[in-house]
Amino acid sequence: MTYRSTNPAKLDEVVTEIKLSDPEAIVAAARAARSAQRAWAGVPAPVRGQVIANIGALVEANAEALAQLVTREVGKPIAESRGEVQEIVDTCRFFLGEGRRLYGQTVPSEMPDKQLFTFREPVGTAMIITAGNFPVAVPSWYLVPALLCGNTVVWKPALYSAACAEAMAELFVRGGLPRDVLTVVHADGAETFAALEKALAGGLVQKVGFTGSTEVGRKVGELCGRHLQNPCLELGGKNPMVVTPSAELELAVEGALFAGFGTAGQRCTSLGTAIVHESIHPEFLQRLRAAVAAAPLGDPTQSVLYGPLLDLKFSISYEDSLGWIQNHHSVDGPLGRIDAGNPRAGFVGEAERGLFYHPAIVDGVRPGDALFDNETFGPIVGVTSYARLEEAIELANAPGYGLSSAIYTSDPGEVFAFRRGIGAGMVSVNNSTSGAEAHLPFGGNGRSGNGSRQSGMWVLDQFTRWQAMNWDYSGRLQKAQMDVAVVEADLNFRL
Ligand code: UN1
Repeated sequence: MTYRSTNPAKLDEVVTEIKLSDPEAIVAAARAARSAQRAWAGVPAPVRGQVIANIGALVEANAEALAQLVTREVGKPIAESRGEVQEIVDTCRFFLGEGRRLYGQTVPSEMPDKQLFTFREPVGTAMIITAGNFPVAVPSWYLVPALLCGNTVVWKPALYSAACAEAMAELFVRGGLPRDVLTVVHADGAETFAALEKALAGGLVQKVGFTGSTEVGRKVGELCGRHLQNPCLELGGKNPMVVTPSAELELAVEGALFAGFGTAGQRCTSLGTAIVHESIHPEFLQRLRAAVAAAPLGDPTQSVLYGPLLDLKFSISYEDSLGWIQNHHSVDGPLGRIDAGNPRAGFVGEAERGLFYHPAIVDGVRPGDALFDNETFGPIVGVTSYARLEEAIELANAPGYGLSSAIYTSDPGEVFAFRRGIGAGMVSVNNSTSGAEAHLPFGGNGRSGNGSRQSGMWVLDQFTRWQAMNWDYSGRLQKAQMDVAVVEADLNFRL
């Protein structure tokens, strides 16, 4: 079976045609990765770090070609694609040094002539399943630390970003990674799940990383749980932005524009609902609508706010979520697919050839509305208003996700009240909900994930396990807790 990955801005253009693997082939890839793991873990960590350094340098040298491919295959505006490629370079730069650290500890013992130690050990073989909205940057958050730590990886990228995955894997191998250490497999969701089930049952996979929908993440989590594994789950978001009366309004509008409509709203960190104080709600809404109306949309090779949706399956689900708009909501401007019968003024390029959609700003959303409660993954932003900050925080938490969040304010008291009250793993202050830097912990709570964190030093806990060692060189059996020297003290003493 083969799959054709097409350019979502020009659906008649095939970017690549790939062969799909059946579950047996994926299990075989996991078995091969499993047997390659010991040798890879035997390569000294600083040398593995050098491989990561080479990969970073090679990605940098090929940055423009890779960015063009990202834009061609998933329709991301070229400026964002360049940023995405930079995120791989940043990740490599962070972890190349980790090869020389990967610290363990020496720990004092409670007994003489005994020493305690901790070591970070690779977990084993990881199966990494990623989405295509960040076809290379988000995979690098898994692959780079997993490999640096001495794990081998089977990577199942999204089908609609297959060419990006192949290009990235080739850069990894050219950077000096042995071919059997990273294997890319292409398969649909059901076949991947069947293979994962077998690979886990066969003891071939010790860590699963999954970036995708909450619904699938739940199934992956259940499956891993049955095998006593704790996967790294990076799921959806319904990311709130609270705009308080003390906010600089123009900055908040700019933030909402980028967070809501950058990547056509298809980031897990995209803005879901703007929660705006009632005193500034009309003005915020009017300014955001004006900014969105004036923004150039269209051909992602040009300078546009956003291009097409990623793939046909996303336009289908996005059209479903447009059906969530209700009578008590207010929308101005056209909705749905942009074409000759439903045009967009100033559209850049040929709308008919791609999966281009009008932006939607839906005012008046509230808890209980499907649009308020659920992730939409498309160029749509909800707006609601609040009277007191506690109410805004309650609204921000109500959908039960917990990935990213933002507050626009000039009051430090409001910043910290929001930080304490919000259930999200990430909080932006006077900044967009999207656009996290590559070396802070990235991840969510609730419907956004199981609390796992990626990026920076925190991800090491996903791809290593602590091993504790104690070494008694006293020449006799010293029993912990029992053979410990007793300290005499007069605890009744008072000054
Ligand atoms: C995602 O959409 O899966 O913080 C990740 C951001 C990006 C990553 C988004 N650096 O928006």
